[in-house]
Amino acid sequence: MKITINWGILAPGRIAHKFAHDLKLVSGARLLAVGSRSLQRARDFAGEYGAPHAFGSYEALLDCPDLDVIYIASPHTGHFEHAIMCLERGIAVLCEKPFAMNTAQVQKMVECARTNKVFLMEAMWTRFIPGFEEAVRIAQGGYIGQLRTIRADFGFKANFPPEHRVFNPALGGGSLLDVGIYPVFLATLLWGKPTKIKATAVMSSLGADDSCAMIFEYADNRLAILDCSLLVKTEIEAHIYGETGTLRLHNRFLNPQDLSVSFYEKSSEHFHLPLTGHGYYHEILEVNDCLRNGKTESEKLPLEFSIQLMEVLDWVRREAGIIYPTD
Ligand SMILES: NC(=O)c1ccc[n+]([C@@H]2O[C@H](COP(=O)([O-])OP(=O)(O)OC[C@H]3O[C@@H](n4cnc5c(N)ncnc54)[C@H](OP(=O)(O)O)[C@@H]3O)[C@@H](O)[C@H]2O)c1
Repeated sequence: MKITINWGILAPGRIAHKFAHDLKLVSGARLLAVGSRSLQRARDFAGEYGAPHAFGSYEALLDCPDLDVIYIASPHTGHFEHAIMCLERGIAVLCEKPFAMNTAQVQKMVECARTNKVFLMEAMWTRFIPGFEEAVRIAQGGYIGQLRTIRADFGFKANFPPEHRVFNPALGGGSLLDVGIYPVFLATLLWGKPTKIKATAVMSSLGADDSCAMIFEYADNRLAILDCSLLVKTEIEAHIYGETGTLRLHNRFLNPQDLSVSFYEKSSEHFHLPLTGHGYYHEILEVNDCLRNGKTESEKLPLEFSIQLMEVLDWVRREAGIIYPTD
């Protein structure tokens, strides 16, 4: 069994900094190399986190010997191309969310991973956060009775310049794929694919969705009411309503440390479940564990689930009229 897992980071932007911070907290893993479109940025990043190698292109990063896995942190529109590049070279991949721009791309990534027998996982870190895992256990364990309704939101005021990737359709900008994916992830993880979706979006002058509101319908009179925004800060909470009680995932529900369960005014219980680092620590442990055990996908976040999540996102986009140049 491999003792130390050697990580590479492709595209050292904002999230890559947080990821590299958490990687340092994981025993049995190290940052071996960084690849950026700029050698200087790669060197600066490598210096900050103690990586021995820095490369001025993504292609050069892939030539680095002894890499076990690459974390892809480019803008959404880069995920497909960058994941395929790694997988075709036989290098395992942890790829940021959204996994790609649409289902067709995700299916090709999964096919490529399977053909080359290489590990691939979406960096949907929420799945591995201890507080979130506990919430799923409570929701699925019958503690609040038959589940009927989910409400979840993720809105933040995106104080970025207009050219930033979150506003730019050419880079996959917009609220749904950036933050709306989290409420959609929660509903899809608990209930799978809806039977009906209603969704509407308000679009920016640049053509990206500023905000999006969604209603998902499921069999047995279940509903998920979800929304996201780049214009306003919302509670960023999730409420799961069962017939005998409510489970609340406190702010921020995607990496919650606090949960409460209330049984219709009669009593309530509060749980505090700390996370480690920024929370990316937990997905890193999962990838290391899979790689050490020779797995090509995670049982907790299987590739079929990532396909399904993207199918639901595509469906929301069709309903809401959110279109990208990659469509
Ligand atoms: N899991 C999470 O909690 C989380 C949080 C935030 C973001 N994300 C995801 O991570 C990805 C990156 O987000 P971010 O906020 O880190 O973005 P960012 O700060 O803009 O960084 C992205 C990096 O990608 C590289 N890049 C490659 N092509 C680019 C292009 N055409 N334009 C701009 N940058 C380009 C750049 O690095 P070089 O030029 O140095 O190569 C840039 O620093 C997104 O897909 C996002 O959804 C996930």
